[in-house]
Amino acid sequence: MPPPRCSRLPSSSEVRAQAGSARPSPSGLTRSREQRTDADFSLVDLASFELPLLDEPIPAAAGAYSNPHTKRWSAAIASFDGYVFVTPEYNHGTSGALKNAIDFLYNEWSDKAAGFIGYGYAMGARAIENLRLVMASLQVATVRPQVGLSLVADFEGGTVFQTDGSTRKEPERPARFTWSRGAAR
Ligand SMILES: Cc1cc2nc3c(=O)[nH]c(=O)nc-3n(C[C@H](O)[C@H](O)[C@H](O)COP(=O)(O)O)c2cc1C
Repeated sequence: MPPPRCSRLPSSSEVRAQAGSARPSPSGLTRSREQRTDADFSLVDLASFELPLLDEPIPAAAGAYSNPHTKRWSAAIASFDGYVFVTPEYNHGTSGALKNAIDFLYNEWSDKAAGFIGYGYAMGARAIENLRLVMASLQVATVRPQVGLSLVADFEGGTVFQTDGSTRKEPERPARFTWSRGAAR
């Protein structure tokens, strides 16, 4: 069986705009990806899809998409077996950008697996819990272990991710991520 194809989903425009600098996806998470051999990881830059606020006339579960941006997004998400969502915490939830992007699709997510990496002052914990509820609606199996990054402890000046782990030890990775692929199939 070939290794599952997985993606990491940066959730906000800041991730796109600052690729290679401050945010966790382009720096420390790239290192994590390189260390993992049990899945084939790809980075999905949500911002590059330039999704507007949900503008499909028919609910996503029907899979009858009208707009080119939705079809492009659908093709990208459908190509993966699982996902690691990278989410900031906004007002005790995930970002509006990520929730909007999730809502564009349905069947592309279903019966797959998801893990989570959160960041914020409270390590993104509530944003991840928010996403777990959303995943339940989409019939996505979620991995219990999660990574929480603190803006205070893991980012120098609240902006530059500490890739060398100098502020604290390496955060727990969603090591059981590939487990749930089997559970979901
Ligand atoms: C509108 C807004 C709401 C926020 N709410 C929370 C919050 O409820 N809990 C928290 O820990 N951090 C909160 N933060 C801090 C963000 O998690 C933090 O600024 C993070 O870096 C945002 O990620 P981004 O810059 O990649 O969008 C909030 C930030 C903003 C802009």
